[in-house]
Amino acid sequence: MPAPRAESAPDFPGVQLHIVTGKGGTGKSTVSAALALALASRGNTVLLCEVEGRQGIAQLFDVPPLPYEERRVARGTTGAGDVYAMAIDAESALLEYLDMYYRLGRAGKALDRFGVVEFATTIAPGVRDVLLTGKVYEAANRNRRNKGAREYDAIVLDAPPTGRISQFLNVNTELAGLAKVGPIKSQADVVMKLLRSSRTAIHLVTVLEEMPVQETGDGIAELRGADLPVGGVIVNMVRPQDLDAAERAALLHGTVDREALVASLEKAGISADDELVDGLLEEGHDHAERRQLEDTQRALVEQLGVPTYELPLMPGGVDLAGLYELAEALCEEGLG
Ligand SMILES: Nc1ncnc2c1ncn2[C@@H]1O[C@H](COP(=O)(O)OP(=O)(O)OP(=O)(O)O)[C@@H](O)[C@H]1O
Ligand SMILES: [Mg+2]
Repeated sequence: MPAPRAESAPDFPGVQLHIVTGKGGTGKSTVSAALALALASRGNTVLLCEVEGRQGIAQLFDVPPLPYEERRVARGTTGAGDVYAMAIDAESALLEYLDMYYRLGRAGKALDRFGVVEFATTIAPGVRDVLLTGKVYEAANRNRRNKGAREYDAIVLDAPPTGRISQFLNVNTELAGLAKVGPIKSQADVVMKLLRSSRTAIHLVTVLEEMPVQETGDGIAELRGADLPVGGVIVNMVRPQDLDAAERAALLHGTVDREALVASLEKAGISADDELVDGLLEEGHDHAERRQLEDTQRALVEQLGVPTYELPLMPGGVDLAGLYELAEALCEEGLG
């Protein structure tokens, strides 16, 4: 399936690295994939990365599990770019790091054989994060000098959830012990410089419910506190809004014109007994109540003071075609 074509100008033109976080289950992986497609539709060559070993991207694009290697997962139309994807894991990143920085390819493999890689990354969680973000840094900083390496116009990172994002990105303050000096420390410093720069934007995904919206606000405050650049908030799984204010009020307060409802059902060829009408009114009441709660949360999202985007709830979940629809919606709204 070709990437959708974009018409309007994007909201984050100078940003090369888009990091997507949010409360668990709100749609981080789905939004990351849709954003990658949206960016590709503008002619960008895009890399979509995941770092949690979940293989969420492979599932979304309906491809075999992704290795520690860039694979094309979506092809652009004429004038549109491709989306590549990879799963970054700390052990592979460490082997690559050893290979690149110390030219210790064989020694690295020996380390792996003795399980030292696992040992090293287990005892130093801060080092783990430097390795993961370090790979993203490497992909973002390729140029013609890196022979044969593909250059990316944009990178989208399907990142850990809001509860862990500041710690994950704050790589140079989380280093302990030996890693405080030497090459790991200098690596952390250059990664941090990219993450804090205007080349990076951290987007937060939420749904219109109390807990995720609260977590979004807290996440934004925490990121800002850590001097990390906040991008936009993507409100995901928004239900259709086909009732006007008066209709909603009538449903909420039980003042719907019952006779008129029966008449319109019968006009549509449905025999409207009391049970059916009661059921419909009850469902309508619940729907109106949920809409009211959503509106309260939407108002709170708007007060966060960052650009917001909305993505519809796809009935039946997000398949590949649905993913392209979400990408198009992001394009139209100016994200990506
Ligand atoms: N706009 C949408 N409409 C319908 N279903 C959606 C939408 N966005 C996401 N989903 C569904 O919600 C579920 C969670 O989405 P996803 O895996 O992207 O969330 P996540 O935040 O990455 O989760 P996790 O925290 O587990 O990594 C999936 O089943 C996905 O298909
Ligand atoms: Mg996910």
